[in-house]
Amino acid sequence: MKTENPSPASPNSPSLTAGIDALTVRMLGTGCYVPERIMTNTELETIVDTSEEWIRTRTGIGERRIARSGQATSDLALAASQQALETAGVMADELDLIVTATISPDMLMPNTACFVQSRLGAPAATCFDLEAACSGFLYSLEVARHLLLAGRMQTALVIGAEKLSAFTDWDDRNTCVLFGDGAGAVVLRAEPATTPVHGILSSVTGADGNLAHLLTLPGGGSRHPTSGETVAGRMHYLKMAGREVFKHAVRCMSDAANGALQKCGLTIDDVDCIVPHQANLRIIQAIGQRLNVPMDRFYMNLERYGNMSAASIPVALDEAVRNERIRPGDIVLMVAFGGGFTWGATVMRWGTAGNGR
Ligand code: UT7
Repeated sequence: MKTENPSPASPNSPSLTAGIDALTVRMLGTGCYVPERIMTNTELETIVDTSEEWIRTRTGIGERRIARSGQATSDLALAASQQALETAGVMADELDLIVTATISPDMLMPNTACFVQSRLGAPAATCFDLEAACSGFLYSLEVARHLLLAGRMQTALVIGAEKLSAFTDWDDRNTCVLFGDGAGAVVLRAEPATTPVHGILSSVTGADGNLAHLLTLPGGGSRHPTSGETVAGRMHYLKMAGREVFKHAVRCMSDAANGALQKCGLTIDDVDCIVPHQANLRIIQAIGQRLNVPMDRFYMNLERYGNMSAASIPVALDEAVRNERIRPGDIVLMVAFGGGFTWGATVMRWGTAGNGR
């Protein structure tokens, strides 16, 4: 099977993937970590003017995890990474690359991946963060995959980690009921391709910066450096035009899913498990209708964690693998949408041709 079959007009064009047929990039292991503290919808009723019933029926969220004060995104990322490395049977000093997808870094500088590198003990790793909001994990997978396929690196750690509670306006009921904290990680390795290919089969990524204003965290950057005014204006918190975002999320995720499947010559009927970005149950139901797939084909954990932005997909993926919702040989479709706007979809065949892990 060909691993890539993009249309000539695609931004992920054939020229970018030429000559990589001999190698494939496989996930050797996954891991995740969520903070212990649970915040229920009922607790939120005591913080803002909302109700358990509104949150559950409009979003599908029942509770979310909240990191301790003093616990930073890299702390969550480290725990997820340690588990992923252990599951993969890979030592930290084998890592050539660490990419952290996040919109809630420990600091603007240095990058969060460097903090993780230092604590893991991965001296050979090149480290950077990638910011593509809720699509950040799939963007990072795609970047890491191509760095591995280029042949200069062999083993990568890709993390999605967020402490969104630090950037949530707890006075804004439109947003504060939606988000949670957590981290997921995967270990990738470039290996000679088997038949059929096990590992990542295809991916699409895209963006529309014309709609950037609909989902922002405006304060604290070079456009609006932190000042008394930006803090008083609550510009250091996430802002979202929910209804507009909803509409675009459904269309972009459905199109991205179809695009990635088309690229590797599969159809939605070939997919055993869809791991979508977990923003809203109604968004996923609408995607299910557009793709004509039943809801039981989606892996969902939104009810327990809310929207963890870049961490949502890797946490869900790790859970699905651990509880055997994803089994060796399964075709897995991951699909995301987020601020930017950005979107992406990745198709992989889980496990190895040999021992099945
Ligand atoms: O992860 C990145 C991508 N993010 C997303 O995909 C999120 C996309 N958007 C959504 O999931 C939904 O738009 C929301 C869950 C954010 C909002 O749901 P909605 O059905 O689109 O509600 P709405 O914004 O249209 O608001 C409906 C009503 C409003 O009241 P009025 O104006 O009709 O009187 C809101 O003020 O619901 C009200 N409302 C709430 N009521 C109780 C908004 N938030 C709350 C709340 N509790 N927490």
